[in-house]
Amino acid sequence: HSATRSVAATASSTARETIELADICWDDLGFGLVDTDYMYYMKCSSGGSFSKGELRRFGKIELSPSAGVLNYGQGVVDDGGKFDAKDAAEEVLVVVVLKVLSVVMMIVYGQGLFEGLKAYRREGDSILLFRPEENALRMRMGAERMCMPSPTADQFVEAVKLTVLANKRWVPPQGKGSLYIRPLLMGSGAVLGLAPAPEYTFLIYVSPVGNYFKEGLAPINLVVENEFHRAAPGGTGGIKTIGNYASVLKAQSAAKAKGYSDVLYLDSVQKRYLEEVSSCNVFVVKGKTISTPAIKGTILPGITRKSIIDVARTQGFQVEERLVAVEELLDADEVFCTGTAVVVSPVGSITYLGKRISYGESGVGAVSQQLYSSLTSLQMGLTEDKMGWTMEL
Ligand code: COI
Repeated sequence: HSATRSVAATASSTARETIELADICWDDLGFGLVDTDYMYYMKCSSGGSFSKGELRRFGKIELSPSAGVLNYGQGVVDDGGKFDAKDAAEEVLVVVVLKVLSVVMMIVYGQGLFEGLKAYRREGDSILLFRPEENALRMRMGAERMCMPSPTADQFVEAVKLTVLANKRWVPPQGKGSLYIRPLLMGSGAVLGLAPAPEYTFLIYVSPVGNYFKEGLAPINLVVENEFHRAAPGGTGGIKTIGNYASVLKAQSAAKAKGYSDVLYLDSVQKRYLEEVSSCNVFVVKGKTISTPAIKGTILPGITRKSIIDVARTQGFQVEERLVAVEELLDADEVFCTGTAVVVSPVGSITYLGKRISYGESGVGAVSQQLYSSLTSLQMGLTEDKMGWTMEL
């Protein structure tokens, strides 16, 4: 605790020194990295727990070429944090078998975890975080699945606050975007044989961002992927492991080359039910009913997803979390995506087996627009936060 307090003192004096806005063109923000002032850095040894973090100037980090994250994923820690040769031999066998089985299954050996959340500048210059404790809990859940030690929820939220305050001048003026916060958890210790990483690093960096899709707030065009799958039952699709994102790049690149904004994945068993888009969850609107794929291990439990479900219910919609068949896209009124990066993105068309299904020929659908406005005005502090979701800094 005393270590954390001394970091807090550093952060608030840093924030006081850097109260003006950074000197960049705030109108040109997309979703790309802008180097900022500070990052947060905390290490922990295998079998230990995270305790002492610090702010560092933003910059490159040093990793051994043999770092667990670069070689085998973070490594596997058994109950006592001890390494067992028999377990390791079994792990080698499992990895070999999985690699032979399918590309999809390789995501079982993802290489670390990440999170994404945003800070908005509010009128009067305070900063609002949106549900940071939810990200903290999701990282803990992911770490448990990957057998990695993780910061406590308090440590995570405290580190996010410090990092945002230290980079306050990079939080865009209201209406120009947000500060995207990217926590990472990785096996940073060196290993050669397949073994647990002897050390883990928790790191947070930030970047001011604007819209995720190049379409801005205009509807995006998706294509349903028929060959590749994002996740398999029993795999790691339900956690934010970095391997889940590497595995979608091939299909996403092919879709982009054909002019689509992104890819919509189907379940890998029946190839019939909607899962999610590469970087966001998906919702289908029909009248006053909004349906979204249920969380069942292969779908990321999005915090924006969860928030939109609650907001829609308070606005009189019936929200169903269930299996959503791809055919339902044919007679939907609207489709939209949700995610921290994408916020609420209306979908203008979805191409399935070569046929294009269009939505909202006259622009953004009314329901998507309504939910987007409700959520973002709450996140930016323009409406009263009756949900208690925002945290003021
Ligand atoms: C986010 O929405 O924060 C994500 O982590 C998705 C990422 C691909 C940008």
